Amino acid sequence: MKTVLVTGGAGFIGCNFVKLMLAHHPSYRIINVDALTYAGNLENLKEITDKGRYVFIKADIRDKEKMDEIFKTYEITSVVNFAAESHVDRSIEEPEIFLLTNVIGTQVLLDVAKKHWKAHPNDKYCKTYKPGVKFLQVSTDEVYGALGETGLFVETMPLMPNSPYSASKASADMVVRAYHETFGMPVNITRCSNNYGPFQFPEKLIPLMINNCLEEKELPVYGDGMQVRDWLHVTDHCSAIDTVLHKGVDGEVYNIGGNNEKANIEIVKLIIKTLGKSEDLIKYVKDRPGHDKRYAIDNTKITTQLDWEPSYTFEQGMKETIEWYLNHPDWIEHIILGDYVKYYQKMYH
Ligand SMILES: NC(=O)c1ccc[n+]([C@@H]2O[C@H](COP(=O)([O-])OP(=O)(O)OC[C@H]3O[C@@H](n4cnc5c(N)ncnc54)[C@H](O)[C@@H]3O)[C@@H](O)[C@H]2O)c1
Repeated sequence: MKTVLVTGGAGFIGCNFVKLMLAHHPSYRIINVDALTYAGNLENLKEITDKGRYVFIKADIRDKEKMDEIFKTYEITSVVNFAAESHVDRSIEEPEIFLLTNVIGTQVLLDVAKKHWKAHPNDKYCKTYKPGVKFLQVSTDEVYGALGETGLFVETMPLMPNSPYSASKASADMVVRAYHETFGMPVNITRCSNNYGPFQFPEKLIPLMINNCLEEKELPVYGDGMQVRDWLHVTDHCSAIDTVLHKGVDGEVYNIGGNNEKANIEIVKLIIKTLGKSEDLIKYVKDRPGHDKRYAIDNTKITTQLDWEPSYTFEQGMKETIEWYLNHPDWIEHIILGDYVKYYQKMYH
């Protein structure tokens, strides 16, 4: 049996990934390790009924002893590392925790994986690993920095991160690469564009705008709103990670994107129109420091070499996402009231 350790599986993308893996791979066991920071929400996973193949463990990826125990107990065969501090605005306020979780946490996981996966654990120069093991680091296109009016991010570009968040993710990518080069670890790194879809914490652009629109609150838009992002439905991101986990060539980096460039203001206006509200709700606010102008992904490598392609058009994905938020007012309310934190206490104490 394959046992996949998913870290950060109570967050937005992680929870969608856990469910996709349980559905697509009936013989796999999923161990979900999450520290349940403000962004981790066990309500995202409550529809999982197959408890035999799914285990949740509240733990911090920086806790080496605990990670060691988990590898030993569950005989982990792959790691998909989502666990991270992920919000750029928060990284400007408090950079330290981004470096601690995103860089040190990744290094701890790599070290523990190396210890358990080496074919000859006592031979420190041996680069042979047990068959089928893999460490997949979930990264972001933000590590490449910002683009001008034209051009696309390709995997061979130098990393030029501009925010403490993207700098911490770029640093983690470098550490993952080093474990491959120095120790021969079977690794992959994926770099995805902006995600949208169900279960996204309402501090991020799309759920924030939907929620504020529903409550007829102001819609704060940074600067002129002309920052361009390349949007991908979270299910497509998860299917791409699944593809890389199974077909990725060891040591390779794969960009993930769906060729959907949109300016932030276009998204805000689409949400307003879909919900039948007025554009008077838009309030332009002072831009954030180091705000990258444009991100856009060249996905040629993953589409041609691994045969992956996105399944959602942006229009369909946004329609379903808006409907999902409309149909889940309790989920949003629990987050806003902080009640989602009590869910863990109720379920696990
Ligand atoms: N959201 C996007 O658009 C996007 C795009 C590309 C890449 N990514 C990457 O994907 C990953 C997941 O992003 P997300 O949007 O789901 O983030 P999220 O903030 O919704 O979830 C992060 C999860 O990690 C957990 N976590 C944080 N620190 C931890 C620690 N020390 N130990 C264990 N768990 C911890 C949190 O509790 C939370 O459940 C991140 O690595 C992010 O950099 C996100």
